[in-house]
Amino acid sequence: MNLHNQPTSEPSVALGRGNGGGRIYLETFGCQMNVLDSQLVQSQLRALGYRFVEDWRQADVVLYNTCSVREHAEQKVWSRLGEVAIHKREQPGVIVGVLGCMAERDGLGMARKYPQIDLLCGPGELDRLPFLIENVRKTAQEEQFSRQAVQAALQGNTHRRSGTLAAAEDRLEMLDLSRSFDPDEHRGSAYVRITRGCNKFCSYCVVPFTRGAEIHRPPDHIVEECRRLVDAGVVEITLLGQTVNHYHFHHGAAVSFEGRQQPQVGLAVGRKGLPSKAKGETIVGGRITTFADLLARIHDQVPGLLRLRFVTNFPRDFGDDILAVIAEKPRICRYLHLPAQSGSNRLLELMNRGYTVEEYRQLIARIRSVLPDATLAGDVICGFSTETEEDHQATCDLLRFARYKNCFVFKYSARPGTTAMDRLPDDVDEATKRRRNNELLAVQSEISAQVHRSFEGHTVRVFVESVSTKARKAQEQLGGQTVELGWQKPVTQLCGRTDGDLIVMFDGDPALIGSMVEVTVERSAPLTLFGRLADAMPAASPSVG
Ligand code: 5AD
Ligand code: SF4
Repeated sequence: MNLHNQPTSEPSVALGRGNGGGRIYLETFGCQMNVLDSQLVQSQLRALGYRFVEDWRQADVVLYNTCSVREHAEQKVWSRLGEVAIHKREQPGVIVGVLGCMAERDGLGMARKYPQIDLLCGPGELDRLPFLIENVRKTAQEEQFSRQAVQAALQGNTHRRSGTLAAAEDRLEMLDLSRSFDPDEHRGSAYVRITRGCNKFCSYCVVPFTRGAEIHRPPDHIVEECRRLVDAGVVEITLLGQTVNHYHFHHGAAVSFEGRQQPQVGLAVGRKGLPSKAKGETIVGGRITTFADLLARIHDQVPGLLRLRFVTNFPRDFGDDILAVIAEKPRICRYLHLPAQSGSNRLLELMNRGYTVEEYRQLIARIRSVLPDATLAGDVICGFSTETEEDHQATCDLLRFARYKNCFVFKYSARPGTTAMDRLPDDVDEATKRRRNNELLAVQSEISAQVHRSFEGHTVRVFVESVSTKARKAQEQLGGQTVELGWQKPVTQLCGRTDGDLIVMFDGDPALIGSMVEVTVERSAPLTLFGRLADAMPAASPSVG
């Protein structure tokens, strides 16, 4: 895990005409995987003629794509559902749907408690969403808006998709395959899923229960998707997987798993990135595409792609073959998000992470020796069950050793259904969790400041993502006018990222959004570089970051 770098809660906007004149509002919570799921759902519904609106009060269908990783993420959705319940008293025809991990985790119990919910759709069933909406609509018409049975498509924990299911045979694969390649929908950057689900079962985590067993998509599908995105103007692709570096596709082998025969399979990868068999699995023959092979294929076969990223990595599966391919291929970003979760071996064991802190440190040392300019990011959880002051200090020490450019610090949140919730006490009180959280943030902030300061005076390559939040707010205050900071061209503060995922702010023409530029860094803050557009930008000039 985990795909949460940029927590979002954003309305999606699109235009079109619905089957029954449907206006949809779709709001996304949580990780990048959810952002991609929402994009795919939008493509699918738009192709069916629905149109999307920005204001939920104007919508006929209100959808929340939810996250269950921490309780806090769920609370936001509960509060949205409260608002929409009041709205529904005046507008009983409005259809309300909960998509994603909360739907899967809470199941029908959620709809029983909250009668405003008309449909539930788990993350593994999103291809069925249009049918669910239509079914709710039809029954509502027949029953004159009287309360009808909730429409639900959920996998249920007892029906976890087997990892032996061929991705090509998986219905959900169609959702990824049917994505839109309309250039207007991608502002130069796109996500591409390579695996779904997770088999790690870290003791605190709901994802294996909500997203199901790990499935690897066929490499041909992935390469083709990247190629088509680049043809549509995309210059930066981020490959997504809960444990992205665990990607492994076994071509055409007859694999038996618990007595069943399947033609293709994604399988587990051993410690050093070497293929190993999943429990109960017998490989009869066939060729394997590893994650390193996949990176090399995309890099070589999609030459128009300027930047290839991937999130997020599972430390135990990080083989030298992956480092070698990153070192060899210049357009693969030297940026690695490597969640450690704790610096204490005792806690790593309780978390079921499958590695020791010494092994994690060795991995960082290997990365530093092969890719000295790589930037790292991390995740840690504080206040996990039985965490002592000593354990906490061990995590602070790990931050000092890892020197992440940024690290996400989470207070442990006990999640129903997880092993930790069932078997381990949530015994670190809230005040101690908060204090440890702040201490970890303070340690990290100093390191982030040093990492960012080291870029001052350098020229970095930046993919321009958007107008900065500050400039956007200023524009809004001026009633939407562009803030003219320059002489001839409209200039405003823009925001982008370096190859190493550092955030950069600089003044420029908004027309640069979606393109790659070079910026000379003038000053820095703990999480941001500030600079100016480099005067000359020869395409091949060396850059850092
Ligand atoms: N409590 C707190 N943090 C959690 N994470 C996952 N599950 C929990 C939980 N129950 C964090 C991990 C993971 C990130 C996405 O969220 O650090 O890497
Ligand atoms: Fe990540 Fe572990 Fe959760 Fe899998 S179970 S998504 S590896 S934290």
